[in-house]
Amino acid sequence: MRSSTSLKDSQKLTAARSESTATSAVVETAKKTLADEYILQLKTQNAHWNVEGPMFFSLHKLFEEQYEKLSEYVDRTAEVVRALKSPAPGSFEAFKDLSALQEFSDGKISAESYVGALSQDHTNMAIALKSRLELAEDAEETSCVVLYEDLISFHEKAAWMIRSHNAGTR
Ligand SMILES: [Fe+2]
Repeated sequence: MRSSTSLKDSQKLTAARSESTATSAVVETAKKTLADEYILQLKTQNAHWNVEGPMFFSLHKLFEEQYEKLSEYVDRTAEVVRALKSPAPGSFEAFKDLSALQEFSDGKISAESYVGALSQDHTNMAIALKSRLELAEDAEETSCVVLYEDLISFHEKAAWMIRSHNAGTR
């Protein structure tokens, strides 16, 4: 009797431990997502301000729509991090440590380079989020799952819309 009780207790403990490991992996990737989305928002805003050339108007407008959308996702992601009972990182220093995205340099950048770099960033984000989504699904963190599904659709569409500006130029 005693041994079966302690077996059950140890099974419960193991389950609780693996649950907390799964949740902490979800928290870490949610923080990474917050940092990625914030840096991508800044990069998109940078491109909105500085893009030049024959595609100026349509890229300027497209980047504006995209950084506004990214700003909404940044806020949603931070709220998911808080709902996972973790403080949300909120400094450029923390975001640069957490994210693998490369910021633009301050020199002159061609419209084609903005298009190439940002469409690649959106594609990379959609790929990264698919594995982060699996972690969130395994941990049954529903609000995180819904956020990542929305983000994947957004990034795939954004990559396509930006990439279309370079169609026919190569
Ligand atoms: Fe503007």
